[in-house]
Amino acid sequence: MAQDTLSVTDNRTDKKYELKIENGCIRAIDLRTIKTGADDFGLMAYDPAFLNTANCKSAITFIDGDKGILEYRGYPIEQLAEKSTHLEVSYLLMNGELPTKQQLEDYTSKITTHTYVHENIKQFMDGFRYDAHPMSMLGSTVAALSSFYPEAKNVKNKDVRRLQMTRLIAKMPTLAAFSHRHSQGLPYIYPNNDLGYTENFLTMVKSIGTTKWKAHPALVKALDILFILHADHEQNCSTTATRVVGSSEVDPYSATAAGIAALYGPLHGGANEAVLRMLREIGDVKHIPEFIKKVKEKDGDKKLMGFGHRVYKNYDPRAKVIKQACDEVFEVTGKNPRLEIAVELERIALQDEYFVSRKLYPNVDFYSGLIYEAMGFPVDFFTSLFAIPRTVGWVTQWEEMITDGEQKIARPRQIFTGQRKRDYVPVEKRG
Ligand code: CMC
Repeated sequence: MAQDTLSVTDNRTDKKYELKIENGCIRAIDLRTIKTGADDFGLMAYDPAFLNTANCKSAITFIDGDKGILEYRGYPIEQLAEKSTHLEVSYLLMNGELPTKQQLEDYTSKITTHTYVHENIKQFMDGFRYDAHPMSMLGSTVAALSSFYPEAKNVKNKDVRRLQMTRLIAKMPTLAAFSHRHSQGLPYIYPNNDLGYTENFLTMVKSIGTTKWKAHPALVKALDILFILHADHEQNCSTTATRVVGSSEVDPYSATAAGIAALYGPLHGGANEAVLRMLREIGDVKHIPEFIKKVKEKDGDKKLMGFGHRVYKNYDPRAKVIKQACDEVFEVTGKNPRLEIAVELERIALQDEYFVSRKLYPNVDFYSGLIYEAMGFPVDFFTSLFAIPRTVGWVTQWEEMITDGEQKIARPRQIFTGQRKRDYVPVEKRG
């Protein structure tokens, strides 16, 4: 018997099957051969929320959730955060290798010259209510970009694809900054192509009343590190949304807008906003035991936001780097008073049976909000700060999916639990 196989006995029929094991997986489609009779559809795998389903083969990002390891194209996240820049990491993710000096210059110049958006976008942005959430504005505006670039639907053409990927990475900071300015009632600031990616973004967000406004270099560096940490995270909810929507061969703006919508949710990228609101609600270290008690009792569905992860059953390596970055930021901005609450929450949670037995550790969102708040970003802007760097992850994963010969339109099966074959009853005869 071949070694890399799984022997299955169907006790309904006493029939034996041998399923091939490859990369630690069986192919779910092979289960279909397991039938009770000729008119049986065949066995399926039921896996709500994809707890144990690999949806693709990917060469981009590696995570070992038990050991707390994260690598982009084989490079440990800690080394990239310390030594690289977000644009270099973007090149790495998109192309598989670190760039040469010339390649990095060319890539940087390409991104920089695509930062402007069509003037109509401003009017579009103006149509939102003054208090619209920046993520709502960002998602809708990114979806609208497909109407500006109709050629983007040629998803099988590499040059067309790469141009849209460049545009998305380049324009996302501009769109995010515009959405912020709109919600603050401030005039839009155009991109400045003399500045780097992250510095330009900070300037579009913060500059007012002078052309001389300059971002503090330590804050530019800290935000760039946060961008690196958020750039990709393999098959998370928003990336899966982007891949699934993109599998219909729609243009990448529409697919990325789906990713933004998924990221907006409080269980995903919206958690950074939720953490800050939670820390504000706790208010003081002395209220922590009462808060933890409520979380453990699942009182009102309360969760310790910024804790837990589907894949990491160990400390999220990104959270470690962010915790260290806090010190450098607070040296410039002054300490965030909520840091003390966060550190104490973490200390208690890491020794509490409830969290220990469930392997709940701080994730990327636990400390990032403290930095964003200290840097003066409003809380409802935090998730946009996640969406900007994740754009390179979304588009890289989208391209990998589009060029993967094994992929098709995503179309799962269901277990039907509803009613069948009923006769229509006219309204006057219904009880
Ligand atoms: N606080 C309290 N209990 C928790 C938490 C939490 N943050 N996370 C999970 N649990 C409990 C959960 O109630 C369940 O308990 P029980 O066994 O008694 O039913 C157990 O731990 C297992 O949790 P789960 O819900 O089955 O885990 P999941 O893999 O489906 O969910 C998660 C992962 C990230 C959605 C969840 O941990 C969570 O809601 N965390 C808070 C939100 C958050 O911080 N999200 C950011 C994720 S990291 C960044 C990103 O990817 O966007």
